[in-house]
Amino acid sequence: MRVQMVLGNWKMHGSLVGNKTLLDGVLAGLAGVDGVTCGVCVPSPYLFQAQFILQGSPVLWGAQNVSQYEKGAYTGEVSVSMLRDLGCSLTLVGHSERRAIYGESDATVAEKFVAAQQAGIKPVLCVGETLDEREKNITNDVVKRQIMAVVEKAGLDAMTNCVLAYEPVWAIGTGKTASPQQAQDVHAFIRALFADKDAELAQNLTILYGGSVKASNAAELFSMPDIDGGLIGGASLDTTEFVSICKAAQPKAA
Ligand code: PGA
Repeated sequence: MRVQMVLGNWKMHGSLVGNKTLLDGVLAGLAGVDGVTCGVCVPSPYLFQAQFILQGSPVLWGAQNVSQYEKGAYTGEVSVSMLRDLGCSLTLVGHSERRAIYGESDATVAEKFVAAQQAGIKPVLCVGETLDEREKNITNDVVKRQIMAVVEKAGLDAMTNCVLAYEPVWAIGTGKTASPQQAQDVHAFIRALFADKDAELAQNLTILYGGSVKASNAAELFSMPDIDGGLIGGASLDTTEFVSICKAAQPKAA
């Protein structure tokens, strides 16, 4: 089902003491906020702490990456069953930093997507074009290629149980947000990719926008018809900012 959602992506930030303050603040700030699913994707060593603090609350916790392999000689990797043990309900897959810095291909991302789903963990599939690709006018082609690699591997039905996140690479951590219209255009394109195959699936897809979302620009972005919330990097490390962004994603009627 299409839901309003805001997820924090802490990236490689955090400390036991700092996380506690941040999560306690988020829990307090979100009390009484309705109609939006909020969650945090924390570095793996802090998943246990996130579980300890957030268990029993409406705030979800998840990972930023996961191995495509179930277990074995994969030094440094974290498996889906480990994430399940730690109560994760979601994991990012294919974040642009994983693709660009760690060379994750579309095929690897698709394997991670499938592994997560099979373990009952909702994959948040991140897609988006670089500045060069936008300037070459191939944004839609890139996004389509990234999504279709997953659809081919996982099957169309699998898309009913995932979240998509459109994150233009040039907008991530740069302070340069896509304009609401630029973001809307790509979100509508993504929805249309599915519309001819399964109109109901397309309508129910939750598609988040990520890339320099802040409290000051969230409401305008989230007001666009095909933007269902956000994936928040830098601003998710600030309790006040993150809580305001979550509030901005509340359905208008709420
Ligand atoms: P940003 O990061 O909000 O700091 O731009 C978003 C992301 O990488 O998910």
